[in-house]
Amino acid sequence: MNKRRITAEITAVGGYVPEDRLTNKMLEEMVETSDEWITERTGIKERRILRDPALATSDMAVFAVKKLLEDSGLLPDEIDCLILATSTPDQLLAPAASLVCEKAGLNNAWGFDLNAACSGFLYALSMGASLIESERYKKVIVIGADQMSAIVNYTDRNTCILFGDGAGAVLLEPSTTGAGVIDYIFKTDGKGVACLSVPAGGSLEPASVDTLATGRNYVQQDGKTVFKAAIKGMSDACVEIMERNNLTEQDVNWLIPHQANLRIISAVCKRLNFPPEKVKVNIQRYGNTTAATIPLCLWDFQADFSPGDNILLTAFGAGFTWGGTYLKWGTLRHNN
Ligand code: COA
Repeated sequence: MNKRRITAEITAVGGYVPEDRLTNKMLEEMVETSDEWITERTGIKERRILRDPALATSDMAVFAVKKLLEDSGLLPDEIDCLILATSTPDQLLAPAASLVCEKAGLNNAWGFDLNAACSGFLYALSMGASLIESERYKKVIVIGADQMSAIVNYTDRNTCILFGDGAGAVLLEPSTTGAGVIDYIFKTDGKGVACLSVPAGGSLEPASVDTLATGRNYVQQDGKTVFKAAIKGMSDACVEIMERNNLTEQDVNWLIPHQANLRIISAVCKRLNFPPEKVKVNIQRYGNTTAATIPLCLWDFQADFSPGDNILLTAFGAGFTWGGTYLKWGTLRHNN
């Protein structure tokens, strides 16, 4: 007898952004820039910043998990596993996922961090899907969360205008309806590390008075190179995954790109021939929240998705890391 393929369906979503806003007007007071320049070059109007010094990435992830649990009607003890995609763990050692399990009361879950920068959520989603498809686990939470304000230099106008803080989470469960994660394509090119990184604070260049004085504990980037590579990486990944799954742009209901720069998103859409009304964008409100951008879009726009919708997710980030995921939307638990 033919057994139906088990897929990992998204059955609940959660999200969190801090209350505090950092607007373009406020940035005008901090560095030599203007609302007009930022809006025209990036599409960003404001970002959310986690200002409470007692809170960090794990806390935003916990808020997102709590919303997800509320949304699903599940108890924390029912979760089997948690994967946290982040580049800004609370501490270098130990994993922030351990803190999330502890603070959210996931007493029966094991968890780990995954760092693939802005592509982290997509990489983590594929790992979560594999755990479900293996039939060993029934409820896996995948989170993208980053507190970029902790690693951004607010005297550097090239980078401080771009990033914000936030967290998004999805619950994966086994399905035999055909909904869920269908396919993914990922790439890594280590030559990209030179163009976008936080050079110091790791094992190569531990934090010191000198690294702090020279700003090497903060994000550094060659914006132009990253800009071009992101457009090429995300559009190539989408083309490849659409071809492999016999999808035309008409078959795809929604494109959810990583939110790094509105001009990058527009260029990707143009290359793919995607009309803007099929593309989900919230960068104007949150900026680039790194691993959180895609799950925050899923959270923000969940009401627009219908069962059976074909959704293409694509991301590009430091590393370079990039790729695309083809997802068929299913039924959220709260709609059941
Ligand atoms: N306000 C005003 N002027 C600024 C500025 C700011 N915030 N930041 C840079 N400038 C200046 C530059 O110094 C430069 O001045 P110069 O010509 O006198 O040297 C000028 O504006 C143009 O800079 P440039 O770097 O050519 O601008 P750009 O059009 O490439 O836009 C980015 C800069 C950073 C917005 C753009 O390159 C970008 O978004 N890159 C990708 C970044 C990204 O998404 N990273 C994360 C990937 S996941």
